[in-house]
Amino acid sequence: MKELILVTGGTGYIGSHTVVELIEAGYQVVIVDNLSNSEAKVVDGIEKITGVRPPLEVCDCSDFDAFKTVFDKYHTISAAIHFAASKAVGESVEKPLDYYRNNLLSLINMLKLLSANNGKGFVFSSSCTVYGQPDVLPVTEQAPIKPAMSPYGNTKQICEEIIRDATHAGLSFKSIILRYFNPIGAHPSAEIGELPLGVPQNLIPYVTQTAAGIRAKLKIFGNDYNTPDGSCVRDYINVVDLAKAHVIAVKRLIEAKSSDKIETFNLGTGRGLSVLEIVKSFEKATGVKLNYEIVGRREGDIEQVWANPDYANQVLGWKATSTVEETLLSAWRWQEKLATR
Ligand code: NAD
Ligand code: WQD
Repeated sequence: MKELILVTGGTGYIGSHTVVELIEAGYQVVIVDNLSNSEAKVVDGIEKITGVRPPLEVCDCSDFDAFKTVFDKYHTISAAIHFAASKAVGESVEKPLDYYRNNLLSLINMLKLLSANNGKGFVFSSSCTVYGQPDVLPVTEQAPIKPAMSPYGNTKQICEEIIRDATHAGLSFKSIILRYFNPIGAHPSAEIGELPLGVPQNLIPYVTQTAAGIRAKLKIFGNDYNTPDGSCVRDYINVVDLAKAHVIAVKRLIEAKSSDKIETFNLGTGRGLSVLEIVKSFEKATGVKLNYEIVGRREGDIEQVWANPDYANQVLGWKATSTVEETLLSAWRWQEKLATR
């Protein structure tokens, strides 16, 4: 009997790539998503890649009664991966109450329902944003959690605390918290990828839309930082590499491999790249020249952050393997596919 994994936010960017990897690893999956930042059509892409069409339950995780009907329908959920959240930093500054409500209530409902249904394990989508501007680089899981730079970042910090407090109070299952750095790229099939609705806030979708002529030029927010070329440095991780880490985490929880009730892992490549290096890598990988302009700094940007992924490498046996060029090429292939979608 295949283990059934519930994936909230499973038609979203990282969720959809994780659903593909779970299916290909032999798991059954049920997707729960309210389509607030994705489309049901994403399931078509998942089916094209895997040959399996996972059920999509369109449901708001912050609505307990609605979410409960999903658990009532699927009695044998072994574990859950919780991607469902609002994640736009700038929007969270404009609409903090919406972000606190959605992100905190969805998690609370998730934990209550998984516990009531005897789940074996829980994986939570967290973010390197919880570290703020780290004092020491690369960042390990022991780095101090700093005051959040946005309501969004604060929801991630509070969600981690909720998981810790609920676990201490006797949650019936173990949890793994995964702190992602900067996920980029798309599935090599170009059947699924990032679907930024509206003007992209993140770098890579803006790069690919500029390359596609949808945007006139890329604005690079500052080149006067204390970094080798003056532009900000981040740890850009291939989304498929990231998805594979979730499969390993689910297996670890179902097989009860760890004695710890909660484990936390940084998921990054361990390599920092500047914005200007990304631009050069994109042009080299795709042969497409990027029109860009250096402008002033973006408020709230931290100068540089990249992961120390040793703990995930050693304990999970997981490592990001994709090169930045093949990852940027996958993003470009997806952008080209979007034009015909
Ligand atoms: P995304 O917006 O593509 O996916 C999130 C999905 O959750 C969307 O499909 C959305 O419709 C759904 N959703 C939101 N609120 C919901 C609710 N109340 N009920 C049901 N579905 C709901 O975002 P993503 O980039 O795939 O991020 C997934 C997770 O990873 C999020 O928790 C995000 O905070 C976290 N994360 C993302 C990044 C990143 O750069 N993309 C980095 C670190 C952490
Ligand atoms: C990367 C770099 C920008 C756009 C955000 C969230 C974080 C996480 C990942 C959810 C920065 C520069 C960007 C542009 C640019 N999301 N940039 N021109 O800010 O590292 O992280 O997404 O968890 O929480 O904060 O990612 O892609 O927005 O920016 O110059 O048009 O690219 O200044 O240095 P960021 P990003």
